[in-house]
Amino acid sequence: MRAALGARRMYTPPRCASHALSLPLLLFSRRLSTAAHPAPAVSASATASTLPSVPSPTPTDTPYTLPTLADLGLTEGANVTVAVSGGVDSSVTLRLLAALPLSLSVLFMRNWDPVLSENAPPSPLSLAYNTPATHSQCTWERDWADVRAVSRAVGVPSDKVRLVDLSSEYWTRVFEPAVAEWDAGRTPNPDVWCNREIKFGALLQHIPDGHFLATGHYARVKRENGRATLHRARDANKDQTYYLSQVTEAALQRAVFPLANLPKPAVRELARAWRLPTAERRESMGVCFIGERGNFGDFVSQYVPPSHGWFVTEAGERVAPHRGLAAYTVGQRARLATMKPGMGGKWFVARKIGSDILIVPRADHPALQCVRVWSDTFHWIAEGREGEVLAQVRHRMAPVRARVRREGERVVVEFPEPVAAVPEGQVVGLWDGDMCLGSGVISGTCTADEEEGRV
Ligand SMILES: *[C@@H]1O[C@H](CO)[C@@H](O)[C@H](O)[C@H]1NC(C)=O
Repeated sequence: MRAALGARRMYTPPRCASHALSLPLLLFSRRLSTAAHPAPAVSASATASTLPSVPSPTPTDTPYTLPTLADLGLTEGANVTVAVSGGVDSSVTLRLLAALPLSLSVLFMRNWDPVLSENAPPSPLSLAYNTPATHSQCTWERDWADVRAVSRAVGVPSDKVRLVDLSSEYWTRVFEPAVAEWDAGRTPNPDVWCNREIKFGALLQHIPDGHFLATGHYARVKRENGRATLHRARDANKDQTYYLSQVTEAALQRAVFPLANLPKPAVRELARAWRLPTAERRESMGVCFIGERGNFGDFVSQYVPPSHGWFVTEAGERVAPHRGLAAYTVGQRARLATMKPGMGGKWFVARKIGSDILIVPRADHPALQCVRVWSDTFHWIAEGREGEVLAQVRHRMAPVRARVRREGERVVVEFPEPVAAVPEGQVVGLWDGDMCLGSGVISGTCTADEEEGRV
């Protein structure tokens, strides 16, 4: 961590209207970390009788089936902890598992929701961490109430529904490193780190050995011959393997993704057919769903000391001052405060050069076309690979063909068809067909104009 961070705001636990939860929280996180699991297992018959009877859901144009134990790689009586956020995906995940003969517990992660909620109004006050309750939405309290309501509705006893507070882990393991990246002018992806560090890191440590962790991710895990591999979900639009690409194989050995085979519209329809209290909730905004930049980026820029520099053109002309390196990402529109004559039209951020930002006049400019990226800290889920793969440099993009090679620890990914606007600090993920091979933070990029030696 860079020294500059020390001068910024330090971590303070979230303050909400009610403080009643804080103490029990600490107590039961401790209880969880001791191996004993207090409550008796929910047997198959008990599960069946406590589930409210519902009309069997008959939605959809796309046929699908609900997961069986075998689909999930589980055996009867297995201990499964379900991470429930209060969103519809994790609620349906819980309900799907409650119909199977498993011993279920529910965990809700408290984190730092005012920042993470994309619903938060974009005012600095509402985003500040320790503002009084009247200024923050304190959505975690509502989420926690929803988690308890859903758990009740599907018949999980209340003593098996727990809240763990991971906000300090989130602060030190995701937020501060992300600030340091923005500070250095790069564009980090905290969502990817969060899955590695929090959900499949700190949270997993709260779960006794031998217990599985189920989440509402759209992804699939296969366990065969002692190996665990990560695969794309059936719903390609919702597939979240990009966000899970840094998770270790050891964590995948314990991961359960019941939504693997379900199209997203079916998940919503199931929630309604089952009358889950969260059926009408918006998309889950749990700790790992910050979205690309979004409010998080705006928020983080408050923590980054202002830097000063200029927008410059390829001709080297200083056009206008910018608002600080951290406020811009490669590919973004550059809105120039003062426009010089003859500079009409759209300008795009192409590259950060020292404290200045190179802007180019067209979205298809060679300075925005990335032909190669490399990562010095690549995480392979299994063994490293070379050769033809599929790659993504962000969650929302169609995978592209790429060629990967290894130079010692460095992993170099070449794009035969250039990829537009790839910032350093983002994550490059690799797939072989539908199997995710791993990912790495992009340490450096090469664009078409650099390749041609024009800069
Ligand atoms: C489930 O967990 C309990 C307590 O941790 C343990 O006694 C039991 O053996 C576990 N069941 C299975 C099938 O692993």
